[in-house]
Amino acid sequence: MRLTGRDRAFNTRPDAVDHGRVATLQYLGNYERRLPVSMERMLENALDWEHLPHVHASSFADIACIDSGRWGWRAVARAAGEGAEDQVLELLVDHERSYWATTVLTGALAGIEIHTQATAIGDREITIDVRFLSSAPLAEELARLYLAGLQQQYALLYDEDVALMVARQAALDDRARRRDAGAGRVLVGSAAAVRAAGRATVECAGGRYCVRWSGSGWVVHSAVCTHQLGPLDGALDEDGGVTCPWHGYRFDVATGANLDGRCQALAAPPALEESEGRLYLVPGAATP
Ligand code: FES
Ligand SMILES: [Fe+2]
Repeated sequence: MRLTGRDRAFNTRPDAVDHGRVATLQYLGNYERRLPVSMERMLENALDWEHLPHVHASSFADIACIDSGRWGWRAVARAAGEGAEDQVLELLVDHERSYWATTVLTGALAGIEIHTQATAIGDREITIDVRFLSSAPLAEELARLYLAGLQQQYALLYDEDVALMVARQAALDDRARRRDAGAGRVLVGSAAAVRAAGRATVECAGGRYCVRWSGSGWVVHSAVCTHQLGPLDGALDEDGGVTCPWHGYRFDVATGANLDGRCQALAAPPALEESEGRLYLVPGAATP
């Protein structure tokens, strides 16, 4: 069952981090890490509620946004696992201080807050200090248990987020590089090898494309999601659709149409040429 964004009552809460309140919370402990990403990618990731059930599928089964903006978001989330109850989560960002606070408003762990201070140490390197806090006093034993669970969960969440953020940065860098690259036909590979493998992903001046053998013919489509540049070169589902692993948007590879109506269609692919047993993409020439 998909969640829906209900509980608009939570929208009466302030949309800014109350730093003064932190001293009134019980400090449980922290988790520190160095990450190979820019501050821009990190804040974008914090604001991105939509990736939780896709990139962190072992932690979250579903999410529905109540409200979101540059200030942060509130959402109803369901943890992964049998019988997990819904939680209302709130994330508030203080852009000036590169600081964000996540609060569990209802459900399991209600009253737990996770405050993160990020610090840039290079263009694409930051450190994070993730502090776990509780608004309700917890006995020592319980506090230790919560801390151990949260430290373990955050280590996994950041492993998954680093993979996403590094891949997104690489996709942005690729796109910038391709703007300057010259046109020209690009070898995909031997037709027999691509047919046997089922698909191949190729970079050319116009973008990154996936060439697939359908069993009866070739299909070429952009391998770059129009939402936030996620990779679309994974396996097809039985209806000929491909789902982006970052936020779950689905596309028809034959037409490029977004099947959820949530973002634009894929960029038109270049023509595919077969010559002497080899396949080539021809940028600038659209597929007929
Ligand atoms: S990048 Fe968001 S669904 Fe593809
Ligand atoms: Fe994440």
